[in-house]
Amino acid sequence: MNVRENSSLSGKTAFVTGGSSGIGAAIVRELDARGAHVAFCARREDRLRRLADQLQNPCLPLVVDMRKETEIVDAFARIQSALGPLDVLVNNAGLGYKSPLSSGDTNLWREMLEVNVLALCIATREAVMQMTKASRSGHIVHVSSMAGHRVPHSTGMYSASKHAVRALTESLRMELREQNSMIRIGSVSPGLVETEFASLFHGSEDKAKEIYTAFQVLNPEDIADAVCYLLEAPAHMQIHDILIRPTQQAS
Ligand SMILES: NC(=O)c1ccc[n+]([C@@H]2O[C@H](COP(=O)([O-])OP(=O)(O)OC[C@H]3O[C@@H](n4cnc5c(N)ncnc54)[C@H](OP(=O)(O)O)[C@@H]3O)[C@@H](O)[C@H]2O)c1
Repeated sequence: MNVRENSSLSGKTAFVTGGSSGIGAAIVRELDARGAHVAFCARREDRLRRLADQLQNPCLPLVVDMRKETEIVDAFARIQSALGPLDVLVNNAGLGYKSPLSSGDTNLWREMLEVNVLALCIATREAVMQMTKASRSGHIVHVSSMAGHRVPHSTGMYSASKHAVRALTESLRMELREQNSMIRIGSVSPGLVETEFASLFHGSEDKAKEIYTAFQVLNPEDIADAVCYLLEAPAHMQIHDILIRPTQQAS
């Protein structure tokens, strides 16, 4: 049976942050293939438009800088009026820089914390408020990282930001329980995935190529499948975290 047929995501309104490349773009495509109506955001408008052209269902590309709270909040209002109240939020936007804790650049630390942690919290809050107001059961997924489960060498503030995401997943789960909410929260924690991430992290295309060809790493589509598996779980089932490494990844 084609898993995309009769998906519980069909007709749902979803919002994916960081939809212009890599894992986010793959999640947007997979949600669309399963019949969801997908809003997605990033800063690179040309990439968003190109992706929108490939989708079959109603969609909404949004230019948003996740470091600007007003732009994030505004996106939620625009999604509600264009596609209806939100059912699914995938907090995927994120980035890393190699910037040592003993000598690194504060601006790079700040950017990682603002996008990976603070923007994720702002988007989550807006989603919970919109879902609650519309009496939607709702589902929120954080794209975290294996770097949120142990500290890989030289990952400093990036690893700290993903450890924060892990703490935030459990904290929100407990808050939602206290409120007797049917909104679910979960995360997916990938190891190495071939995207634009490594060239930004190391500031080098060559280094990224070296990392991604040392052994068979994951594809963005592998992570998109895991996100959809989590989202399609029945309403009584909350998958807390999915840890995925390439088979040959040692650390
Ligand atoms: N690749 C891996 O090995 C790996 C492993 C574990 C976890 N992850 C996580 O997976 C997620 C996606 O990363 P990726 O690997 O797919 O890397 P990517 O290809 O570089 O994608 C990053 C996405 O985040 C968006 N983004 C970054 N800063 C933003 C900002 N200020 N405002 C709006 N959007 C912003 C980018 O869009 P614009 O640049 O167009 O704004 C892009 O769409 C991240 O949370 C990352 O930490 C990746």
